[in-house]
Amino acid sequence: MAKLAINGGDKAVNRNMGREWPIRDENEEKALIEVIKSARWWGGGEGSKVWEFEDAFAKYQDAKYGVTTNSGTQALICALKAAGVEPCDEVLVPSLSFFASATCVLFINAIPVFVDVDPNTYGPSAESMEAVITERTKAAVIVHNGGYPANMDAIVEVSRKHDLPIIEDCAHAHASEWRGTRVGAIGHLGAFSLMAGKSLAGGEGGIILTNHPELREKLYAYMDLGRWVERPDKSIRLPSTSNFRMPEWTAAVLLTQLSKLDEQVEIRERNFTYLAEGLKDIDGIEPFERDPRVTRWSIYYWNFKYIQEKFDGIPRDKFLAAIGAEGVPASVGAHGRPIYQNPLFQSMTDGKTWPVKCPDHYIDYTKTHCPEAERIFKTEAICISHRYFLGDISDMDLIIDAVKKVRANTDELR
Ligand SMILES: Cc1ncc(COP(=O)(O)O)c(C=O)c1O
Repeated sequence: MAKLAINGGDKAVNRNMGREWPIRDENEEKALIEVIKSARWWGGGEGSKVWEFEDAFAKYQDAKYGVTTNSGTQALICALKAAGVEPCDEVLVPSLSFFASATCVLFINAIPVFVDVDPNTYGPSAESMEAVITERTKAAVIVHNGGYPANMDAIVEVSRKHDLPIIEDCAHAHASEWRGTRVGAIGHLGAFSLMAGKSLAGGEGGIILTNHPELREKLYAYMDLGRWVERPDKSIRLPSTSNFRMPEWTAAVLLTQLSKLDEQVEIRERNFTYLAEGLKDIDGIEPFERDPRVTRWSIYYWNFKYIQEKFDGIPRDKFLAAIGAEGVPASVGAHGRPIYQNPLFQSMTDGKTWPVKCPDHYIDYTKTHCPEAERIFKTEAICISHRYFLGDISDMDLIIDAVKKVRANTDELR
């Protein structure tokens, strides 16, 4: 009789794990009602929730200034513009990330250049960045994949050497820290998504952090229809932007969510550390070896490595299907397929396709290959979403038991 659930055996996990996300209580309700009753629904000005959240989150992430937007994608767009990226400039972007890490560049009619990943972090590799820098390269977007910080020592060194502005895409990494400084405050600019699924959830929303007053001014202008930052002087200086302003109730909810973040980060870290301990001795399963410079590891999803040759030759996707049938909520890690393999990029082969129209310069993305990213996507990366690490530690035991069960019955998967 079959033992594995994928073949009709009993499931290893027979109950819900983790917590429903976002976690909310009467504080979010109170915060929203307070804004509604105040009649102050627009998010600017002294005493506004938007300004309070900008200041609170910037402080939380060790940055001097925060400028909110309505989405993480808008935050990236404002950051690129503030960094001085012009049409037809090149911007380095990670090959493994959510596609907005690259399409934000297209939005301002600049050219994304994909860089391969560091297999120790799944974020962009500094060597790979350096290999594709040209005189056209005007900025680099760095993602902290799943919340695990990219190697910021090596990346900052490349930035200094080439005078290259760094935009950290911190959509997965609220509260994560590299050598004692929170992400988003290490590069020149740090863009965060605050949409409902993120580990700081505001429904929709974004924020950009910086330590540089001149960048803050530009961010503010790009966020608010070209008006200049000096609260309350708002003369218009920029012709080509839009209204990216965050509404007041989003900020009110975000302030209550922010007060819960530290506790959630600690619960998740306790749970994934326990899970890593339980999985690391199973042949073919390799949790990340934590770099001691990662002084705080806050996750959006927890990536780990699957090594087919050490798991009796069973392909990663077959393993994923087997643990999925056992009730383990795992999926392909590192944000899946390399972005350049998306049909949008694959069809941009002649420099004429919207929005990149730079007649003297374009990239044929059908020729882009990042071998590490492709290997990691196809065979190695697995992840589990952050909400599954917010429950009891016994949830981790269920996952460990399920993986051990599949490991012990690989003959059923051949
Ligand atoms: C890495 C990354 N960057 C940017 C974004 C875009 O954020 P938003 O959906 O808030 O526009 C996301 C959202 O999922 C993301 O995961």
